[in-house]
Amino acid sequence: MSILTVLTYPDSALRKKSKPIVKVNAKVEKLINDMIETMYSFRGCVGISAPQTGRLQRIIVVDVSKHKKAPPRNSGLIVIVNPVLIHREGRTISREGCLSLPDYIGNVRRVEKIKVKGKDRYGKRLEFFTTGFESIAIQHEIEHLNGVLFIDRISSLKTDLLMRKRMPGKGK
Ligand code: NI
Repeated sequence: MSILTVLTYPDSALRKKSKPIVKVNAKVEKLINDMIETMYSFRGCVGISAPQTGRLQRIIVVDVSKHKKAPPRNSGLIVIVNPVLIHREGRTISREGCLSLPDYIGNVRRVEKIKVKGKDRYGKRLEFFTTGFESIAIQHEIEHLNGVLFIDRISSLKTDLLMRKRMPGKGK
């Protein structure tokens, strides 16, 4: 496994639409493992999408379990290939950050509860409901696959975009 370079805004790859994975083969598995390792290498990071590493493929990995905002019941490590939201319910606003926008955090509007479907890291179908912080992390990562960043979702750059006090550093 290796830690991948994370692209930062305004890299043009972050604005592109990623392509669906046709088959979860060894190459895709390697990318997934590298994405997992990359996510865990950043303190406080709860998710990463393939396009943030310059691979325009529809893959996300999420793990909110070690974050202070994590609910006691969460799924731990989640890998979703070709994720699709098939249900959205409720509304919420929460503080979000992104490895590709390391200097900022924002108050972002999202839906509260989602049902997501796709494939897991072995190519097996998956489908589940989730809410709260985990739901928000998944929504954030799926939007990367369509070239959308959290700054596109804040209502006011003046009041809802804030400078980050502590940079997301390497290590724990
Ligand atoms: Ni992000």
